[in-house]
Amino acid sequence: MKILQVNSAARTTGANSTLIANQVTAALVAKHPGARVEVLDLAANPHPALDQDGLGALFTPAEQRTAEQRERIELDNALIAQVQSADVLVLGVPMYNFAISSQLKNWIDAIAKAGVTFRYTENGPEGLIKGKKVYVALARGGIYRDTPNDTQVPYLKMILGFLGMTDVEFIYAEGFAMGEEHVKQALAFAETQILQLFGE
Ligand SMILES: Cc1cc2nc3c(=O)[nH]c(=O)nc-3n(C[C@H](O)[C@H](O)[C@H](O)COP(=O)(O)O)c2cc1C
Repeated sequence: MKILQVNSAARTTGANSTLIANQVTAALVAKHPGARVEVLDLAANPHPALDQDGLGALFTPAEQRTAEQRERIELDNALIAQVQSADVLVLGVPMYNFAISSQLKNWIDAIAKAGVTFRYTENGPEGLIKGKKVYVALARGGIYRDTPNDTQVPYLKMILGFLGMTDVEFIYAEGFAMGEEHVKQALAFAETQILQLFGE
């Protein structure tokens, strides 16, 4: 079994989302001792934004691409191959300005590729990244679970599902900006959710 942990905080150290994602991965490994773990830290290894050059590369037929355009496409392809080769994904997801981080959006923009990870049929869209289990470790300064201000969970459910990843569990750690007591509660609640998911 291969576990891919994607850390999408803007910082490489001290990120609460990474802390919770690490705990989820540790619980998975405890349950599946032979599991291989690969970690993609998007702060340490930022993926380029989908900008003019990125779109240009995408829309240029493969045989006409410049060396730079080929390199740009290869960066996306490497992330796609990494996801495809994993059985389980653990995403560390901070809330920044009520949204996912730009690091995570760049990763999603890289792996969402028509004809490769999704396609349209006469019945509508079909996600092609199938058979994965996804755990999303959410870290927030405030408490927004199940409120209209939580745009992250509906968006992630939708886009992961669109790509074929429909088996998604969310682990909430909220209130990191609300004082020590809330931080303690957030960490304890995350632990409880992980225990519920994976047992002792
Ligand atoms: C630039 C920035 C924007 C933030 N925006 C929000 C927000 O909109 N809502 C919220 O609940 N917390 C917000 N926070 C608090 C973070 O969600 C909190 O610090 C969480 O731990 C971030 O995850 P990280 O530690 O993995 O970076 C923000 C933090 C930063 C640094």
